[in-house]
Amino acid sequence: MNSSLPANQIIQGDSIAEMGSLPPDSVHLILSDIPYGIGAEEWDVLHDNTNSAYLGSSPAQQKAGAVFKKRGKPINGWSEADRAIPRQYYEWCSRWAPNWLRVLKPGGSAIIFAGRRLAHRCICAMEDAGFSYKDMLAWMKQRCPHRAQRLSIVYERRGDTRNAREWEGWRVGNLRPTFEPILWFTKPYKIGTTIADNALNHGIGAYNESALLQYQEEPENVLDAGFAAGETGLHPTQKPLRLMRALIELTTRENQVVLDPFCGSGTTLLAAKHLGRQYLGYENDASHAAQARRRLDTLKPDNWELFSEVQLQLMEATSSQAVDSLPPRKEVRYRSKRAKPEPKAVR
Ligand SMILES: C[S@@+](CC[C@H](N)C(=O)[O-])C[C@H]1O[C@@H](n2cnc3c(N)ncnc32)[C@H](O)[C@@H]1O
Repeated sequence: MNSSLPANQIIQGDSIAEMGSLPPDSVHLILSDIPYGIGAEEWDVLHDNTNSAYLGSSPAQQKAGAVFKKRGKPINGWSEADRAIPRQYYEWCSRWAPNWLRVLKPGGSAIIFAGRRLAHRCICAMEDAGFSYKDMLAWMKQRCPHRAQRLSIVYERRGDTRNAREWEGWRVGNLRPTFEPILWFTKPYKIGTTIADNALNHGIGAYNESALLQYQEEPENVLDAGFAAGETGLHPTQKPLRLMRALIELTTRENQVVLDPFCGSGTTLLAAKHLGRQYLGYENDASHAAQARRRLDTLKPDNWELFSEVQLQLMEATSSQAVDSLPPRKEVRYRSKRAKPEPKAVR
């Protein structure tokens, strides 16, 4: 690998500012769960926040608690300025996309988790930066709370019983969000050459079907790799280690370099390390960066999938003894079944 690329590190800082120092054509895969720009967390507010009630700071929201706080702005917005959110998300993506293109090797993949609402803006920013948009994959989530409010209840609260009856069965909001889009881009390779040439020249460009079939029965673009028992709780938008492993094995070979510019608790990097890839991560938030470093530092051959808070505390307390007591890799069961809630009777 390129000697000037900081290998196998998590850099605490702003990747948008810091990635400028990375050498060009030095990374084989960028795999990142980027902020979705829907304002679910402080770091996810990427537009001009023109309403003081945003992120739950008004007295009414404080009283309502976390659920209201996470609900974000209605799609319609709270002011005319809110209508600019999608465009401002595009502008935010446009700040980092050119640098991603620069550091990636020709034919390399950039795989991005982006939210359903604003993914199209990310696609346009990536295309405008020079990426080819290859495909959209779907990750089927195991748990997806459905928060759409009943219209009849809104009217009931207003004391409007006639309309509460009239609008029975209607909801405000979206259908149950069972999938998340995964956007797959590639850096264009030299015109006049082929992917087969590129695989020989740069070691990337094709995808490893055999590797994917270790994770699912069909080589289809719907993925349902889920969390192992006890794996969650490290980050509010944590992704399953198994899912990141599948995507890394799909697109890279051993010893190649995987970059995550928005690494959170380090799931991408942990998957890369376990698979014998080089890795580099950036994380703005000090506590998330520390969490990610701890996960990577405690990685041992037989305990790679188990990194819940409780287990990490256990390891810190009793170090190698606790690591040894964790179940070996082959005994871990993944919940890979897609969440299929029972259909409700139509009223
Ligand atoms: C969607 S989360 C990633 C969570 C990750 N998938 C996991 O499993 O833990 C995105 C992360 O990007 C971080 N972030 C936001 N803006 C950043 C920036 N400019 N540079 C580096 N990190 C940033 C946030 O603090 C957040 O932890």
